[in-house]
Amino acid sequence: MPGRVIAIDGPAASGKSSVSRGVAAKLGFLFVSSGHFYRAFAWGVLRDGISPEQAPGWISGRRLEVRLDASGVSLLLDGEDATPHLSEAATAAMVSPLAAVPAVRDMVNTCLRALAAEHDLVMEGRDIGSVVFPDTPWKFYLDASPEERARRRAREGAVDSVAERDRLDSTRATAPLTIPEGAIVIDTTHLGLDGVISAVLELINAGDVR
Ligand code: DC
Repeated sequence: MPGRVIAIDGPAASGKSSVSRGVAAKLGFLFVSSGHFYRAFAWGVLRDGISPEQAPGWISGRRLEVRLDASGVSLLLDGEDATPHLSEAATAAMVSPLAAVPAVRDMVNTCLRALAAEHDLVMEGRDIGSVVFPDTPWKFYLDASPEERARRRAREGAVDSVAERDRLDSTRATAPLTIPEGAIVIDTTHLGLDGVISAVLELINAGDVR
């Protein structure tokens, strides 16, 4: 039987990762950052010295291995651990242009759906409720003011431009960031992490996820 999927979408630094992690821990579901899959491929194109335009041909020859251990999901690209490279500035700068390439999205979506065939998931991203799992009954869209999101990213020590990534992610032709039909929208600007996790859990339990 395919697993249950709780989809949590939203712009960069809206709190998706921390909230998804917390909800997954409470429910005993697997936490999956779909952004990590795009970041692993972004690191790969940099490693191999190719451009996003060349990505459709390049990606068909790639082997992405998903490993699960006590610390969660880790990704190996062509046998190399991508984990140390996911937050690098060069990876962050490449990820949105690469994520706009339909062949890359197809490859990532195949991997994400394969995970759902085996596990109950809390998955966060930009198109999880709209494109990857449009039939899941549990969809959330987290948002926060641009100022608060920039502050959160700076606190994490990240150097990428949240505003620029949001612009690219929201305006691309394929699977742009959007509020999925049927999603519950939560503005996290003035909410603490525990408050958002509790709110999501209450809404899920009201919808009978167990
Ligand atoms: O969540 P994140 O910051 O790690 O995501 C990195 C980039 O990956 C994001 O800017 C756009 C892309 N992405 C996407 O296009 N679709 C997703 N479901 C997840 C991420």
